[in-house]
Amino acid sequence: MFPRTICLWATALLPVITHGLKVERSHDFPKGLEIENMALRPSGSVLTISYASEPHLFDVPVAANVTPKLIYTFQNATGASSIAKWGLPSDTEAYVVVTGNFSFQTFAPTPDSYAIGFVNIYPDGLVKYTKLAQLPQVSQANGMISVPGTSYVLIADCRAGFIWLFDTSTTQLTKYFDHPLLKTLNSSAPVLFGVNGIKLARGYLYFSNTNQQIVARIPVPSPNMPFSPSLTGDPEIVVTQTPIDDFIVNEFNGDIYLAENGGNALAVVRSGSNSTVPITVLGGGNSTALLSPSAVIWQAGQEGRKLVLTNSGPAEQFVTQNFTGGGRLTFVDLTDCE
Ligand SMILES: *[C@@H]1O[C@H](CO)[C@@H](O)[C@H](O)[C@H]1NC(C)=O
Ligand SMILES: *[C@@H]1O[C@H](CO)[C@@H](O)[C@H](O)[C@H]1NC(C)=O
Ligand SMILES: *[C@@H]1O[C@H](CO)[C@@H](O)[C@H](O)[C@H]1NC(C)=O
Ligand SMILES: *[C@@H]1O[C@H](CO)[C@@H](O)[C@H](O)[C@H]1NC(C)=O
Ligand SMILES: *[C@@H]1O[C@H](CO)[C@@H](O)[C@H](O)[C@H]1NC(C)=O
Ligand SMILES: *[C@@H]1O[C@H](CO)[C@@H](O)[C@H](O)[C@H]1NC(C)=O
Repeated sequence: MFPRTICLWATALLPVITHGLKVERSHDFPKGLEIENMALRPSGSVLTISYASEPHLFDVPVAANVTPKLIYTFQNATGASSIAKWGLPSDTEAYVVVTGNFSFQTFAPTPDSYAIGFVNIYPDGLVKYTKLAQLPQVSQANGMISVPGTSYVLIADCRAGFIWLFDTSTTQLTKYFDHPLLKTLNSSAPVLFGVNGIKLARGYLYFSNTNQQIVARIPVPSPNMPFSPSLTGDPEIVVTQTPIDDFIVNEFNGDIYLAENGGNALAVVRSGSNSTVPITVLGGGNSTALLSPSAVIWQAGQEGRKLVLTNSGPAEQFVTQNFTGGGRLTFVDLTDCE
């Protein structure tokens, strides 16, 4: 609500203000971990998973300079690709997690390495993993969301270019949505990443496609019943020219905040804007404010105001295995410049 000049003035005075935004960071994760996706705990702290080299689960409170706490390590996989809070009420905190093997040297997953299971966190801090199923049909799992009030999760398969529906009560996996806008661009390109992030918001299923550099959306029949038995139709493209990984929608006004992994930036497309081309709000260019942001979520109770971004560190280190920087979480307060 402040005029832009106030923000620029603040930038000049306070080094912690970046692009007019207040930015804070956690301490680094151990080197070599590619921090991939997040889920919010009822306490407001963030659960995050690592995708390259070690399948770890961390708990990170949202506060400057906190140290990420390793709370679980999965078995039989080199990484955890997806995490979502379970959509049904439960006695203990329950999350759904997908694990699997992906190599940054070949940029390819290992066939039949993906598995899905529950993580339960008990009040005394005990973390328990229960495997539900192997997912041999899934080529490369990426973003995942729960369908609120149901036992269903939707899983983005970024290599095959599908959205799968998995029922945690029956362990049935079915193809939910298939469309050219979910696909990788070119089957002989070195990096095959089609549909990446998925979100349910404002009566739509939104998804990003990394190769196609877009976010698109398609109406779902009902917010809590989008799956009977599959989705058809043509999505509307709402963001273009974005080196995107994942994103979050503001449920109240439709603004879309983008974790631009390929651009080292946080960007936005405002719903009232005439343009589908995002505006950078943090990082970008040669800035080191963000390095390879892979996901973005709202902080607890702060929709439209405060974000958490994963910051995976310099991207090339996962290819070279010369680990030069740890990942961290970045906390961004948007309210200074709204
Ligand atoms: C995935 O990686 C784990 C850990 O290195 C390994 O034990 C497992 O055999 C791998 N799975 C496949 C299908 O190769
Ligand atoms: C480990 O992974 C392999 C192949 O991905 C699978 O067949 C096997 O059941 C898994 N083991 C466990 C204990 O989940
Ligand atoms: C597909 O990718 C390969 C490898 O990057 C490239 O040589 C080829 O020209 C691309 N084809 C099209 C149609 O874009
Ligand atoms: C959108 O474009 C129209 C026509 O060019 C212009 O009048 C209007 O101010 C623009 N709105 C925004 C939010 O840029
Ligand atoms: C980034 O740095 C390079 C090398 O110093 C420079 O040529 C380039 O213009 C810079 N890019 C931006 C967007 O500032
Ligand atoms: C690893 O990266 C650092 C920093 O860029 C560099 O100084 C070092 O020579 C690299 N090591 C190897 C083995 O490439």
